[in-house]
Amino acid sequence: MNRPMFRLDPRLELCASFVREGCRLADIGTDHAYLPVWLLKKEKISYAIAADIHLGPLRRAEKNIRKYHVEEKVSIRLSDGLETVFPIEVDDIVIAGMGGETIAKIIAEAPWLKDEKKHLILQPMTSAEDLRRYLKENGFSVQEERAACDSGHCYTAMLAWYDPKNLPQGKLYEYAGLLDGSTPAGREYLLKCAERLQKKADGLEQAGNQDKSKEYGTLAKALRELAETEGGLTEP
Ligand SMILES: C[S@@+](CC[C@H](N)C(=O)[O-])C[C@H]1O[C@@H](n2cnc3c(N)ncnc32)[C@H](O)[C@@H]1O
Repeated sequence: MNRPMFRLDPRLELCASFVREGCRLADIGTDHAYLPVWLLKKEKISYAIAADIHLGPLRRAEKNIRKYHVEEKVSIRLSDGLETVFPIEVDDIVIAGMGGETIAKIIAEAPWLKDEKKHLILQPMTSAEDLRRYLKENGFSVQEERAACDSGHCYTAMLAWYDPKNLPQGKLYEYAGLLDGSTPAGREYLLKCAERLQKKADGLEQAGNQDKSKEYGTLAKALRELAETEGGLTEP
């Protein structure tokens, strides 16, 4: 039976938009495998590795892969990060729905990603600033970044590849990435980020750490200003 296609949520749809037409994809931390299944059904990709560190998620993945009849184009892989994925197998690598530090660790453990032909599509749920800092310090340049909001939550997703001659600078970049106020989701994401930093600044002030409090307060203000612009970064 040919099942009707499901819809991706806005966060995964954003990740899907960065995937190259016709590429071979690795989805690291695939869980339900919605992303590779959807991309295969849409014929946007030619092949996918659906990888996860746990068997439970891979069983969920297998169920969906069978349900939508894409078995012949998917390899299900038990893998800690990219440990069991070989460089010749894939072009684009999605790492979505994990913390920024975990994503950075997965990239660090696969030195073959330092190749401009390998595109990374990264969607941190937390600590996006740590991921951006890691990418910058290790020669990966974020080429595109957009936000998506869904049910009161805002997410960012970035497309990056190894390009050590083209790296951004500055503390504000670590928090804002390439986002600005030109889209409602970008604006919302920046305002939520500013709110989080402002709370941190207020807490530090109460704890008597005036210097750090001022630093976070200044960043929060710069993010609020950026949320009202359409022109990208001006460092405070
Ligand atoms: C919250 S789910 C995200 C699923 C999907 N990528 C998404 O964005 O909707 C996170 C998945 O990452 C897997 N995971 C966590 N650490 C991992 C690692 N080091 N390598 C591979 N998979 C990992 C978990 O087992 C889990 O299935």
